[in-house]
Amino acid sequence: MDLTAHLKHPVFKKVAAAASALDIPAYVVGGYVRDIFLKRSSKDIDFVVVGDGVEFAQKVADRLKGNHKVSVFRNFGTAMIHFDDFQLEFVGARKESYHPDSRKPEVAGGTLEDDQKRRDFTINALAISLNKDDYGSLVDPFDGIGDLEKRIIRTPLDPDITFSDDPLRMMRAIRFSTQLGFTIFPETLNSIRLNRERIKIVSGERISEELNKIILTSKPSVGFNLLDEVGLLELIFPQFLALKGAETREGKGHKDNFHHTLEVLDRICPNTDDLWLRWAAILHDIGKPATRRYLPDLGWTFHGHEVKGSRMVPQIFRQLRLPLNDKMKFVQKIVALHLRPIVLSEEEVTDSAIRRLLFEAGDDIDDLMTLCEADITSKNREKVKRYMANFTVVRQKLKEIEEKDKVRNWQPPITGETIMQTFGLNPGKEVGLLKTAIREAILDGKLGNNYEEAYQFMLSEGKTMGLVPVNE
Ligand code: CTP
Repeated sequence: MDLTAHLKHPVFKKVAAAASALDIPAYVVGGYVRDIFLKRSSKDIDFVVVGDGVEFAQKVADRLKGNHKVSVFRNFGTAMIHFDDFQLEFVGARKESYHPDSRKPEVAGGTLEDDQKRRDFTINALAISLNKDDYGSLVDPFDGIGDLEKRIIRTPLDPDITFSDDPLRMMRAIRFSTQLGFTIFPETLNSIRLNRERIKIVSGERISEELNKIILTSKPSVGFNLLDEVGLLELIFPQFLALKGAETREGKGHKDNFHHTLEVLDRICPNTDDLWLRWAAILHDIGKPATRRYLPDLGWTFHGHEVKGSRMVPQIFRQLRLPLNDKMKFVQKIVALHLRPIVLSEEEVTDSAIRRLLFEAGDDIDDLMTLCEADITSKNREKVKRYMANFTVVRQKLKEIEEKDKVRNWQPPITGETIMQTFGLNPGKEVGLLKTAIREAILDGKLGNNYEEAYQFMLSEGKTMGLVPVNE
């Protein structure tokens, strides 16, 4: 198969020229080649040379116009060049597989085929020659093209060997399957099941990188169900698995929160590409197993699960090596507030309830509404219709109140400073109590949102607390 037409970018000619000058065979390999067949564009190009990859990269850099720095990763024997908006990576063909967690710095050189067979999947082991004699021809010893056509994820070697070389590949198999809609070859899938415990030697960062890629696909439930099926989910994210199961007592059941959560996650995907809002969808009911109670009169309750869930977020983020920063705080906040719009839509929507929600959610109000809409997974069409109609009312009201009262990023008109000066107080409990009282009164609509009214209110509240203004 001649793929010259796909090698139009000048960089390929430069690499070919370097190969010819050094008399070292060079090939494009891996994801870039796979993506040509999948009609996906990629900015990462991997090259494999039968020789020293680092030295070769230097020669390529010398040939490129401009000053191009070569970054060398000695441990892996790889070198990288940024060119235009491309990232070019060079590696010498090797007999053994390498992976970032390996402590083996050097691996023996090998032929192109040696290198291809130590790669993860047949579809990622395709290469295109950049050599004079057969420029542009495909080198596909493991029928990667056949697997692309059959839409199969399969290892080039015995999967036990491929996965033991780098157990992260078990996650990668599931990630590719979810991203591309491919099936994992039965023998490959079986081997994941068998080798799943080996995931424990992989760093948390690499695992969560793959998990996040699964979450960013258009139907992440596929990946989570596969992770569950092979027993990996239990090892990397047991809290999620605890959502499973639907118990029935005295004829009263509750929904299976694992399946419900996956449905919510899939439902939110068309409406957001934001990884953290998707994480909020994954974690919105995570506090349910810990708060589940059966009350004979009421049936199943999960009272306080939003608070419990929100508190569980930091531990889960730590465990999965996700960032412990404002992204985590955002997830915590959405989890904590996720019931509020539903409760609102069930009752008559009062201005004060809307103001309160706007105040608490701030700029995240739209994301919160997006999650709540995805959270309606009932099979009962009438119910879904009713909820959605109510949400439309809530959204409309949110807009109206925000335009009128501007409480989204609001600060009450009286500061702690003013309170302390007025009553001659030092920082302490009373200041907090007064501040809260003023804020609550304004949010409840008992008080106008202006300095004068708030000041008068502060004076009278202060007096009931036994405080005396300094100027009296
Ligand atoms: N590879 C491998 N084993 C791994 C990681 C990567 O064999 N654990 C090989 C595969 O041949 C892969 C290539 O290295 O195609 C490049 O890896 P990477 O850039 O991580 O992935 P891509 O396949 O390019 O896919 P994506 O860009 O979607 O991550």
